[in-house]
Amino acid sequence: MLNRKDLLGTSDLSKEEILSIIDLAERYSDDNNNHVNNTKILTGITQINLFFENSTRTQVSFEIAGTRLGTNIVNFPLKNSSQSKGETLLDLASTLNSMFPDILIIRHPNSGAVQLISEKVKCSVINAGDGYHEHPTQALLDAQTIRKRLGTITGLKIAICGDIAHSRVARSNIFCLKTLGNQITVIGPKNLIPKGVETMGVEVTNNMFDGLQGVDVVMVLRLQKERMNGSFFSSEREYFHQYGLDEKKLKYAKPNAIIMHPGPMNRGIEIDGDLADDINRSVITKQVEVGLAIRMAVLDLLTENHPLRKK
Ligand code: CP
Repeated sequence: MLNRKDLLGTSDLSKEEILSIIDLAERYSDDNNNHVNNTKILTGITQINLFFENSTRTQVSFEIAGTRLGTNIVNFPLKNSSQSKGETLLDLASTLNSMFPDILIIRHPNSGAVQLISEKVKCSVINAGDGYHEHPTQALLDAQTIRKRLGTITGLKIAICGDIAHSRVARSNIFCLKTLGNQITVIGPKNLIPKGVETMGVEVTNNMFDGLQGVDVVMVLRLQKERMNGSFFSSEREYFHQYGLDEKKLKYAKPNAIIMHPGPMNRGIEIDGDLADDINRSVITKQVEVGLAIRMAVLDLLTENHPLRKK
């Protein structure tokens, strides 16, 4: 049960709420794997997808999730919209609110923009990633993927590696995985580690070999060049040498440690391409599969009290 209007982040989710989402997603995951037709429990509910930033995994999976559950989906046509005529974000929110949508799914390049919209509209808002801030469904799908593969999502040692500074995935995962009782180490070059990250209850190191010692999970992050002003590393070759996950560095993790990446990947920069494809270690495609189930669960739980569900 999620007694909340919106899902804006994982920072304010309780352990019970996280587990209720991933438990329900487990059922949807089984249905999806067994090609079970989901009952259209969200029939009549209007879902608008507003993506102000590019996306493959999140946008497509929210669209399929809504379709499987029976929502009416509108993909906001950003390029042809009145945003190009200078309409503000708050005016856009107010305009959409007047059309009585039930769920807005929003990705925006500015941290905090999704919350701003959520305060202006009556319907549920799901944050599909805002700037450096949060990407809650990514963290939830990561937690479920870990539980599926390792049989538990508590008491694990988890390393989050690479560009932590620009990563909403890192922030949402730190909140979520800490709430679930895991030990997190963030690893990256000094200038890609945000100041004060220790206050989030994580260990910090600039050395991959130190940080990967005995971990159960290695989560590799993309270098977010689109968010970087200026140069953060001397060359991609040098970055890969120091921080790219390869066989040599992975040996420091536990023998059964799994490799994760939220995608899209830069092969040969933050991760060796062969390791990313190693089905015995990498769960990257599993993350995408689980993402669909998580998004179905979130749509289901956020609309539990919608009048259309009581008919
Ligand atoms: N992980 C993730 O958010 O991927 P997309 O940008 O493709 O949605």
